[in-house]
Amino acid sequence: MPLVTTKEMFEKAYAGGYAIGAFNVNNMEIVQGITEAAKELNAPLILQVSKGARAYANHTYLIKLVEAAVIETGLPIALHLDHGSSFELCKSCIDGGFTSVMIDASSKPFEENIALTRQVVEYAHDHGVVVEAELGTLAGIEDEVNVSAEDSSYTRPDDVQEFVSRTGCDSLAIAIGTSHGAYKFKPGTKPQLRLDILEEVEKCLPGFPIVLHGSSSVPQEFVRIINENGGNMPGAIGVPEDQLREAARKAVCKINIDSDLRLAMTASIRKYFNEHPDHFDPRQYLGPAREAIKEMVKHKIVDVLGCDGKA
Ligand code: G3H
Ligand code: 13P
Ligand code: ZN
Repeated sequence: MPLVTTKEMFEKAYAGGYAIGAFNVNNMEIVQGITEAAKELNAPLILQVSKGARAYANHTYLIKLVEAAVIETGLPIALHLDHGSSFELCKSCIDGGFTSVMIDASSKPFEENIALTRQVVEYAHDHGVVVEAELGTLAGIEDEVNVSAEDSSYTRPDDVQEFVSRTGCDSLAIAIGTSHGAYKFKPGTKPQLRLDILEEVEKCLPGFPIVLHGSSSVPQEFVRIINENGGNMPGAIGVPEDQLREAARKAVCKINIDSDLRLAMTASIRKYFNEHPDHFDPRQYLGPAREAIKEMVKHKIVDVLGCDGKA
């Protein structure tokens, strides 16, 4: 099976009350850990590549790693550009074999967001590629952009219908309280997503797939291991998994996870070196790190996304 778009995945996910995991990939071990988990659980997958990942690992290497994963797993896998910041970047990924792109013009005024999204949609659809757009602004760090909590803003349900009909986008990322990175909520506070906004959006766009960025849950077990093995991550808190599961039962069809992959990998490697200070063969510490990613992704597929057995 070749790489697929997200069209059919989202239709089934919407109807079935589950979501597809969109995991960020930056190297071979990450691709392998994620895709081995999905294969064992027969789950559909979105592998996503940021501008930073492309700069780090190179477009061709990433494409070939993902193509290898398609061959090895036989799963429906979509290859998605995460947070495309310009028409040129989206075009380069469309021309270069991606099946889905995000144009993130959410920081621009409404009319500019519509114009740029529309431009990407026209080019993408001419090439059989689907487009995710964003309305509302998430807090946190993505690529080189750092948005403070004060500058973030929830999506306005009143805007979504006009935005989708004028842009022709295929899915919409909304801001309901998730944020990028490992420090999402203040320690001691009770994290609460605005599922009421999601419900309002769903009423305005029945049947339309919604996307949640910034959806790592920052498992405290990983933070503890990191801090017990020379790290310093005080106050790292993520999105409660039960709230993500609830969102997946509603209109959310794609849930983005990157920070939890980083935490799983880093916790494993820090622990490994603390226990084996004399080791220096990268396979010795990258193997367990890949396994830690696999276990974490299996947990997400079963307990958060609900997409096991849906490939
Ligand atoms: O939302 C952003 C993702 O976590 C990608 O992060 O730009 O550092 O690759 P990155
Ligand atoms: P996290 O930082 O919560 O993993 O979010 C990742 C993301 O939204 C990628 O686009
Ligand atoms: Zn994101």
